[in-house]
Amino acid sequence: MSAIIIDGKLVSSEEKDKVKERAEAFEKKFGRKICLAVILAGNDPASQVYVRNKIKGCEYTSIKSLSFTLPETVSQKEAEELVISLADDDNVDGILVQLPLPKGLDEKRLLSLIPPEKDVDGFHPVNVGKLMLGEKTVVSCTPFGVIRLLEHYGIEIAGKNAVVVGRSNIVGKPMAMLLLRENATVTVCHSKTRNLKEICSQADILVAAIGKAEFITADMVKDGAVVIDVGINREDGKLKGDVDFDGVKEKASFITPVPGGVGPMTIAMLLANTCLCAEERESVKNR
Ligand code: GUN
Repeated sequence: MSAIIIDGKLVSSEEKDKVKERAEAFEKKFGRKICLAVILAGNDPASQVYVRNKIKGCEYTSIKSLSFTLPETVSQKEAEELVISLADDDNVDGILVQLPLPKGLDEKRLLSLIPPEKDVDGFHPVNVGKLMLGEKTVVSCTPFGVIRLLEHYGIEIAGKNAVVVGRSNIVGKPMAMLLLRENATVTVCHSKTRNLKEICSQADILVAAIGKAEFITADMVKDGAVVIDVGINREDGKLKGDVDFDGVKEKASFITPVPGGVGPMTIAMLLANTCLCAEERESVKNR
């Protein structure tokens, strides 16, 4: 049996169409466009591509984007002043600081200046706390996109054994929390996990967010499992996921490809989060 290939491009374009409708309704109601500020510091080529795609996504969905490019050598103070000015600008609904930052910048301190109500990445401690408590909030875009993919393909989560490999603040931890919110039984594995192969091979839903090319092989996967590959690894000029796609697709029931799986969803969910921030900001004003 060969797995159904999950089409992230298709689902992301449906999500973007929904965002566009929301953004147009917002503009009609409030007489201004939703506005996202995107900050890129330094010259990381992958970040440049991601930021370009985020800005293209804004154009497609009728969200206004403000783009700020800072040199590799930017000082902490200059970067902080930019974030503070955007935080104070009432016409800006969302602020995104592309990670990783150049060496010498204090990421935690810079991100803490983004007010929770403009935190389109869902990184602020207040929004992370709300996710833990099950309250409505913005959620880190990549794990949010994974949940949308599962929903789109009618994959039931409740009661399933979900295994997340990786415990980053951006993907692994919020992914585990979202799967738990959907009533999965969740196990989080990491570099110190013993018996990784055995744990993975019990997963009904396996999420790979390790950052090592083709780390998850067919012998680690249960027959009929749903395999979600969050990895983006560049090897010999080629993009490779964390999953050995060719081997695993013969065993899984569903699998995401790289590229074209989870990646496009990250941007769609960023745009959805931007809408949510804008709508919530206006609703607080009118309360
Ligand atoms: N770098 C890699 N993933 C992300 C993300 O989701 N948001 C931001 N801001 N930077 C990233």
